[in-house]
Amino acid sequence: MGLNKFISPSIMVPKIYEYEEYMKQFEQYKLSVIHFDVMDGHFVPNIMLGTSVFSDLKEMTEIPIDIHLMVNEPEKYISMFTTRKDDWVSFHPETTNQPYRLLQTIKDMGCRAGLVISPGTPISYLEECLDQLDYVTLMTVNPGFAGQTLVPNSFDKLRRIRQLLDSFNPEIDLVVDGNTTPENSKKMSESGANGFVVGSASKILKNPSTFGKYHDEFMAVLG
Ligand code: DX5
Ligand code: ZN
Repeated sequence: MGLNKFISPSIMVPKIYEYEEYMKQFEQYKLSVIHFDVMDGHFVPNIMLGTSVFSDLKEMTEIPIDIHLMVNEPEKYISMFTTRKDDWVSFHPETTNQPYRLLQTIKDMGCRAGLVISPGTPISYLEECLDQLDYVTLMTVNPGFAGQTLVPNSFDKLRRIRQLLDSFNPEIDLVVDGNTTPENSKKMSESGANGFVVGSASKILKNPSTFGKYHDEFMAVLG
């Protein structure tokens, strides 16, 4: 039996005024995590979601939130987020001088710790941090924007990451972020992914009223 398959809705995709409605859907469908993109305009050419939106979301739901830090020097910003035990925090290893120490800090906060690998980033970054990892996220598009097309070597890279994780601990989750259409996600799943950040490609966040329909279709394709 493999790891649990789960989706993690990318909260930068809906409009702010839709958040309340979506939270009701997420709770009804018992989602285990929500994806929260933070972008600093330096590491990636876009600016997204900050600390006050995060605090507002924490008031709306008990569902853990995965903070995906697309920022340089993430160690400077982590304590600004009002995380709770069981939230998830991930960052890109090339953005900090001490990725191992930062993973330790995240775990000391009671959160799940993860590294995010961009298309151009070698997976060897993971090798020295395996004992601190609860999950790895593979960006299957270049980080920074929703609505992009899949980078072609993603499936091979997923297989290589899954193999590396299995050699240390098969319980480490492997999440994919970017262009998760149902068709792509099926292939991603076959290549070793078990978590799926869903943004615009899956249509799951198209409208709160159609959440259930697209959610169920997506899960059925994953099998
Ligand atoms: C950035 C975001 C986006 C996006 C994912 O980290 O997480 O990649 O919203 O979903 P798509 O690619 O389907 O818009
Ligand atoms: Zn993300």
